[in-house]
Amino acid sequence: MLHEELIRRDAAAIAGVEKLRFFPATMKSGSGAHLTALDGRDYLDLTATWTAAGLGYGHPRVAAAVTEVLRGQPGAGLSIMHEPAVLLAERLLALAPGQGDRRVYLGHAGSDACDVALRCARHATGKRKIVAFNHSYHGGFGVAQAVSGVLVEGGAQVDPDAVFVPYPNPLRPHKGTVAESVADALAQVETALAGGDVAVVVVEPILADGGLVVPPPGFLAQLAELVHRFDTLLMIDEVKVGLARTGRMHAYEHDAVTPDIVCFGKSLGGGLPIGAAVGPAWVLDAPSASALLTMAGNPVCATAALAVLDELEEQDYASRAASLGAYFAERLRDLMAGGGVQGGRSAGYIGDVRGHGLYIGLELVLDRDTAAIASDMTRKVIYRMWQLGVTVFSVGENVLEITPPLVITRADIDTAIGVIDQAICDVADGAVNDAEVAAYSGW
Ligand SMILES: Cc1ncc(COP(=O)(O)O)c(C=O)c1O
Repeated sequence: MLHEELIRRDAAAIAGVEKLRFFPATMKSGSGAHLTALDGRDYLDLTATWTAAGLGYGHPRVAAAVTEVLRGQPGAGLSIMHEPAVLLAERLLALAPGQGDRRVYLGHAGSDACDVALRCARHATGKRKIVAFNHSYHGGFGVAQAVSGVLVEGGAQVDPDAVFVPYPNPLRPHKGTVAESVADALAQVETALAGGDVAVVVVEPILADGGLVVPPPGFLAQLAELVHRFDTLLMIDEVKVGLARTGRMHAYEHDAVTPDIVCFGKSLGGGLPIGAAVGPAWVLDAPSASALLTMAGNPVCATAALAVLDELEEQDYASRAASLGAYFAERLRDLMAGGGVQGGRSAGYIGDVRGHGLYIGLELVLDRDTAAIASDMTRKVIYRMWQLGVTVFSVGENVLEITPPLVITRADIDTAIGVIDQAICDVADGAVNDAEVAAYSGW
């Protein structure tokens, strides 16, 4: 198919409810950190498809494992027991620290892993309230959606028993100073906990879709201490940032936190759909047969996930993400300091560079002094970058979310820096018009 034809047929065939687009990319294949378009053009991918292709596209180890298991698939779900599901569950139990009798829910994605864990927490504790954060994201349906601050703010149905509290933002404190914002957020959590009717507190270790906010150091540890002081469950959502991307196997390891429930998804499947929730048996065992997806825990996706975990651990991708991420961030900070090749002009629009490892946010502003959010420009920079051969998405209104496959190289990063620099300058010069981006406004 040709580019224009695919766009036309996609519009006529694929449901709008599942489209979130920033540019009209039409790809035919992918390898590592690169995608190849229908017209044969190479694109460096800084999205990893929202981190789902964490090890890149078509990873040989994942491909080989999946091909092998498909030749003699031992069933297709969990009603017939098979090794891959049990091996994966045991592996995740070993990976996510915790005490006592624990279980793993295997599902299709981050959304159902979070949804099931939240529902189980309610059932197990007999309590209804869920404390979640403003601008958070935990899934596209059910309770996970209804406690996702960013969706509720966008008009999704709010869970009647959700309590939303601020997520401390070091760049834009919601109350006075950063320290005051942390204190206020914790005070609001404490007020909710003091009511005695909170089933679970759910938090992202880095607020992702809400604008890539890295919490002030110590915030998560204080939150964990508070939640546990009230003998309540703490659920950490590692779906987007977990599994080596931030330079640690788990993003919550950047702070001293021991979660009760951890959810995984996206990169766990190496591009195949799988998600998981790890937590206490008394939470995840009941009610029996209450979270049934026929193909959950299927041997193909479980085998892919095992190959992903083998590769991440044996090749120490956490260290790779830490060092390449540091290099990427340093080069972005060079741009911010005026080191871009176009006379340093891009610097005036870069308000912040933040993140951990290969989870990096580049915030675009209209003016460095006022930090005015450059949302229209952000849309256009992303579109221009695609035109220049690099794909990236945004979160919040003005943050480029840089999440390349962990196999990205230094040479790729150098390419990306050049394109980011050029795209910002081109857009400042009016290279992209409103009509071009109208149908691709993302969120
Ligand atoms: C933090 C977080 N949790 C859960 C989800 C839901 O994952 P999925 O869309 O794969 O179901 C996402 C997806 O963006 C996410 O970012």
